[in-house]
Amino acid sequence: MDRILEPELMEDEAQVAAYAGADFAEENQGFVDRFREYFPDFSEGHLFDLGCGPGDIPIRLARALPACRVTGIDASAPMIRLAERAVAEAGLSGRVTFRCERFQDIAGANQADAVLSNSLLHHVPNPLQFWNRLRQLVKPGSPVLVMDLLRPESPEAAQAIVDRYAADAPDVLRRDFYNSLLAAFTEDEITSQLARMNLTRLLIDVIDDRHWVVGGIIH
Ligand SMILES: C[S@@+](CC[C@H](N)C(=O)[O-])C[C@H]1O[C@@H](n2cnc3c(N)ncnc32)[C@H](O)[C@@H]1O
Repeated sequence: MDRILEPELMEDEAQVAAYAGADFAEENQGFVDRFREYFPDFSEGHLFDLGCGPGDIPIRLARALPACRVTGIDASAPMIRLAERAVAEAGLSGRVTFRCERFQDIAGANQADAVLSNSLLHHVPNPLQFWNRLRQLVKPGSPVLVMDLLRPESPEAAQAIVDRYAADAPDVLRRDFYNSLLAAFTEDEITSQLARMNLTRLLIDVIDDRHWVVGGIIH
């Protein structure tokens, strides 16, 4: 099955509210725990979270790494509004800040001591732009961790995943999940993107039936 793009930004109020209200605790905490597992010596510095959505991962990162600052970047104004509110409620506004900006437009290079991104890449029309920007943003010798969905082999297989993991979710969330699976990349496509960008030190791991993770140090 070929990739079917979905809109790049999540700006629709109902869509944003459904996404922010969903329970991604296990997935998001698993992502943060994986970062600590892959990079056990990383304890200080400035982390970027690209496509941070409603801010749950930046909050979890700030709690797990108390000597770190986190900047969440998302070009959706409604997402950033919710993220700012969540961080204020968590009492973490001193260490977690947000920028409403496309990652493609972030100025400058070598700014981050680590870059993370969960569930952004499938929104991006040209994935090479993402890997290129990631490499520019992170300081040489710094860790990166990227996670996203795997594209299933057929629309029927995508529907089966939605039915298995989001049976009781609101319709808007089920529709977004289905569209995201169709817009996602396969393991082979990610491997070839990394090769084209000369990022072969980053390793891909397929961690379950619907997610891949790429991690490593950028030199
Ligand atoms: C599926 S959500 C993931 C949110 C969060 N990372 C999480 O794991 O819960 C993807 C987010 O990426 C944002 N996004 C998509 N394209 C973007 C871009 N080019 N620059 C910045 N943010 C973008 C969307 O607006 C959306 O909030």
